[in-house]
Amino acid sequence: MTDTTHSLDKDTITKAYARWAPVYDLVFGAVFERGRQAAIEAAERIGGRILEVGVGTGISLPDYSRVNRICGVDISEPMLQKAMERVAKLELTHVEGLWVMDAEHLRFPDDSFDVVVAQYVITTVPNPEATLDEFARVLKPGGEIVLVSRVGAEAGLRKALEKWFAPAARKLGWRTEFSFNRYAQWAGSHQGMRLVERRAMPPFGHFSLIRFAKLGGTAARRSDEPQMRAAG
Ligand SMILES: C[S@@+](CC[C@H](N)C(=O)[O-])C[C@H]1O[C@@H](n2cnc3c(N)ncnc32)[C@H](O)[C@@H]1O
Repeated sequence: MTDTTHSLDKDTITKAYARWAPVYDLVFGAVFERGRQAAIEAAERIGGRILEVGVGTGISLPDYSRVNRICGVDISEPMLQKAMERVAKLELTHVEGLWVMDAEHLRFPDDSFDVVVAQYVITTVPNPEATLDEFARVLKPGGEIVLVSRVGAEAGLRKALEKWFAPAARKLGWRTEFSFNRYAQWAGSHQGMRLVERRAMPPFGHFSLIRFAKLGGTAARRSDEPQMRAAG
């Protein structure tokens, strides 16, 4: 199911993040920190070559272990410029490269990465399901997609507030309404992908860590842990 009511276009997004770039770390640094750490921890249980989509200012790059190789992409040049400055300043030699690239059209061959990470990104792209298809394409069999993402309320006051705030949120560069069902349905309809975890994340549990595994087995894996942990 595709949400067309509050769809986002790339022009709106690139303009919004050009405005956010100078202040992004200040505004969203601490508030999203726990989610970023949880995503990195999940990604590093597999390790190897990791793609971070919507890498933004590269705020999470210093936190990856140097034994992994990190590639980062983002649609916003001003955000990515900040990431490049961070890589140079902190001498982040585990960062293989940073590219301006659209998440929905990744310029990497099939089966390129052990893990694809996207923190606070899926609800900002115009076509979330097509973007997840693209993540699955570049992921090696046995690898994982690790998301930290906003999950909209199913009912009640929060759902009503999210609906009310949706037009303003769109101008700021994200969606407020996005049900967990969309992630579950995507996994259910994508042969070869399986939902393995959903875990509530702060602030206020409005976000979730969501993991999908690609069936098969050539990706690096450092742990035997990957099976379903309390989805729902
Ligand atoms: C809310 S920020 C998250 C940044 C970073 N992941 C973090 O943890 O703070 C969303 C990022 O996704 C990027 N983005 C949005 N749409 C994109 C797309 N279609 N392709 C690639 N990046 C995109 C934005 O430019 C922005 O840097």
